[in-house]
Amino acid sequence: MRNFNEKTITDAVIQRFSTSTDPRVKEICTSLVKHLHDFVRDVRPSYEEWEYAIDFLTRTGKICDGARQEFVLLSDTLGVSMLVDAVNNPVGGNITQSTVLGPFYVNDPEVFPLGADIAGSMRGTPAYVSGSVSSEDGSPLGGAIVDVWHSDDDGFYDVQQLEKLGGHAGRGRFIADDKGRFHFWTVKPTFYPVPTDGPVGEMLKAQGRHPWRPAHLHFMIHAPGHRKLVTHVFDRADKYLDSDAVFGVKDELVRDYPEHPPGVAPDGSKRDAPYATIEYDFVMAKSA
Ligand code: BEZ
Ligand code: FE
Repeated sequence: MRNFNEKTITDAVIQRFSTSTDPRVKEICTSLVKHLHDFVRDVRPSYEEWEYAIDFLTRTGKICDGARQEFVLLSDTLGVSMLVDAVNNPVGGNITQSTVLGPFYVNDPEVFPLGADIAGSMRGTPAYVSGSVSSEDGSPLGGAIVDVWHSDDDGFYDVQQLEKLGGHAGRGRFIADDKGRFHFWTVKPTFYPVPTDGPVGEMLKAQGRHPWRPAHLHFMIHAPGHRKLVTHVFDRADKYLDSDAVFGVKDELVRDYPEHPPGVAPDGSKRDAPYATIEYDFVMAKSA
């Protein structure tokens, strides 16, 4: 076969892998080629524009390393991460909704006892965080593993300022008690921009978009017999809730982060400075 034109080349490419023995590979590649070719027929890029696209992707790859994943950020800012999340986590019933993982999770975080303060040398208003983990049938999930991580008052994660902070801060792992409850102290997170010093920043600027994410705490929760839950608890007062750069906000994940004057906190401790409280009761889906 030869002499392909704008109309015939798509079928010819798809035909080329029709003998693949993996039906999923065939399905994925067929759809990919169809959409990619339709995109080119639709946009009709000039040679210069196509070169720019190749260069953009090349630079996106080159900036990636162990601590920076520009392709994930590209997927996040184009709404693809949340779309993948949506097709894999059908919403329903009382199950807590999921949202993006983001690039700042660190494997095997330090385990803290319930009630510990994980703020380390992070700056910000002290915050008392509490809640529970239960199954969709209402039973408490004692022993659930609750990982949390968040930014500080300046909008930075510990991994972006490890030297300044002298190590990890604003992250840790807790084991829920036998009633499925957990509580700890940290600092109140604030809104922050996704990294803009790479190709994704260039794209956001060209699209006339801001890079901000509304303030949130990240949670990753594991419990035996249940699907892993990756989610956030957002601050209801944040001005970026309706324009999150990565499209991750869901109404059910928004909570008040009320501030209180000095006094006795919910855990009975005496606070000399104002503090915030943040509460969320997570409901886990049983695994299939
Ligand atoms: C985050 O919430 O940490 C995050 C998510 C997506 C892109 C950048 C940051
Ligand atoms: Fe975040």
